[in-house]
Parts: sequence; structure tokens; C-alpha cells
Amino acid sequence: MNIDYKSEILRLKKELNVTLVAHYYQKDEVFAVADIVGDSLELARKCKEDKNDWVIFCGVGFMGQSVKVIAPDKRVLMPKIACCAMARMIDGEAFERSVEYMVSHGIDKENIMPITYINSDVSVKAKVGKMGGYVCTSSNAFKIIETALKSDKKILFVPDRCLGQNFAIAMGLNSCVIGEGECDPKEADIICYNGFCSVHQLFTLEDIEFYRSTYPDIKIAVHPECDPKIVLASDFSGSTSQLIKYVNELDPEQLVAVGTEYNLVNRMREKNTFVLSSTKPSCPTMNETTLEDVYNTLKSIEDNQPINEIFVDEESIKYANMALTRMLEIK
Ligand code: 13P
Ligand code: SF4
Repeated sequence: MNIDYKSEILRLKKELNVTLVAHYYQKDEVFAVADIVGDSLELARKCKEDKNDWVIFCGVGFMGQSVKVIAPDKRVLMPKIACCAMARMIDGEAFERSVEYMVSHGIDKENIMPITYINSDVSVKAKVGKMGGYVCTSSNAFKIIETALKSDKKILFVPDRCLGQNFAIAMGLNSCVIGEGECDPKEADIICYNGFCSVHQLFTLEDIEFYRSTYPDIKIAVHPECDPKIVLASDFSGSTSQLIKYVNELDPEQLVAVGTEYNLVNRMREKNTFVLSSTKPSCPTMNETTLEDVYNTLKSIEDNQPINEIFVDEESIKYANMALTRMLEIK
């Protein structure tokens, strides 16, 4: 039997009152059928306000978990339980070891202010929430760090070392990375965990040199998950939505090379836009979700046998919610 997935998805989500949510990195065909699209921060905010009880989230695991944490009464299903590679680099125990590292270097636990990038498991967010800390996304990291600094505590930033270092540079602060050279928490303002995004590590100085020498007037725009040396060599660095805005506001004839995920860059602008890489920087797990998966997930609701539902225990919801709410309250 040949199923027209697109029309079946449109029919089912309407009939079943399901909200279909997709991150900007999703495949074009999935992105096209979504009701809500955005970057991590926008998706968190919009899902919280959405009226439907059912959410089908096309993205990676931490995003579906975040919806469940901020709106626990919603039923959240993911067509693929795809995990962000960076989020997998830290769990609750590894977070505790980072706290212990700081304590063993003379910082009392009460004097540590943890911030976790939203790309982390709910268990990490819960530990951060319990310590009075914050979640941040690449859109609001500046404001969250600024607010956290007012506590006069040392900032422990997990899991993305690049995001932590890039914002430290932008704010004129000292940072170090646990496990990378001498990292003395007493000397640094921001102490970073040693995680990273393998997709955003694909952009190199050679790529930037290539584009600048081939097209002397080109602009280079990158995501802050790129290495600090890449961000420093660029004209602009910003979150997914900030990159979209930057490119949209350029003169249509202005060439730009963008250092972030392939699907997003590919649909940004019809012409004069390059992917800043000789390889195809697509996020493997974001790319797993297909129209067929979305259809199967909707069908499972119709058949009363929901698949791939996200469950989070009450204790984790309670504390992770504190860290996420603290973030959402900062405008
Ligand atoms: P945004 O917060 O910009 O959506 O980024 C999420 C992400 O996973 C980037 O790799
Ligand atoms: Fe995670 Fe990187 Fe994929 Fe973003 S691009 S979801 S940080 S692995």
C-alpha cells in the first residue's frame, strides 16, 4: 500500500489535536509539516504556551524532555528517540565530578553557580536546578551568564566547552576547561566542562581562509558551538535564530558562508549563501527523523498505543523545572 505521508500527517494531527514541533535542523520534508518551528529557546517557550495535550517533537532527546519538564501534563512523543552527541557527553555523575573538581581546588560547593546548556540530559538539569543554577541556550547564554555573575559565585558551565569559552571571551571574562591544561578554578570566572558538538567542530580555519581568499568581500557567520578560534575569525556568531536573522538582513547580493548545520543553511536563502565546509555538516541524529516516522507516531496515538513517549520522574521534573523556569524568566 502506498501511503501519502504528507497528507496523512496533516489529516491525523488535525483530527487528533496533536501539535507537531520541529527544530530548524530537521529534514526539509519534516520541517514543512510542523506547526511550531524554532531554535531550542523558541521551542521551549512556544511548547509551554501551546494548548494541545499531545506534542510530537521532531528533534533530539533533550528537547522532548524539556517540553515534558516545563509542561508535565502534556503527552510528548518523539518519532525517533535521537540523542544529541554533546548531551551524551555528560550525565549526573560526571556533573558531580566536575563539582568535586572545583571543591578540591578550593571552591566551596555553596560558592559554585552551575549553568547547563539546554543540550543536556534532564538528570544534569535537575542537579543544576537543585544547586540554584540555570539552563541556557545559545540565544540567551549572555544574559544568563550576566545574571549568574551577580551571585558572585564561580560559574561551572556544562557541557559545551566552546559555548562557555566563546561567551567568556565576548564578556571579557577568564575561562578554563577541566581536563585541558592547567585549569585553576580560583583563577577563572567560568570553569567549563570538556564537552563539544562534533558537527560544529567540522568548521576549520582553512575553510574560512578558503572562502575569504576566493570571495574577498564574503561575510562569515558561525554558531557559538564552533571552536573559539573559528568564532574569533568570523564576522558574526549567533544562535540558530540569530544566524537566520543576520543572513536575512544582509543585502541580497552580499555573499555569506555559514558555519552551522547543513539543513538549516540550505534553506536559509536562495542565493549567495555557502555552507562553511568542504564536508556536509549535517547532525546525524537530527537527520534520523523521516515523514514515515512522524506518520507512524501519529498513527500510534490514533490506535491508542502511543510509541516513543517521553517519561521523566517527578523528582527530576521538580528540580530541572527550577533551572528551566529560572532561564525562561530572564527576558
Ligand atoms: P539552538 O539553540 O541554536 O537551536 O542550537 C541547538 C543545537 O543543538 C545546536 O547544535
Ligand atoms: Fe547536538 Fe551538535 Fe546535533 Fe546540535 S548539532 S543536536 S549540539 S550533536
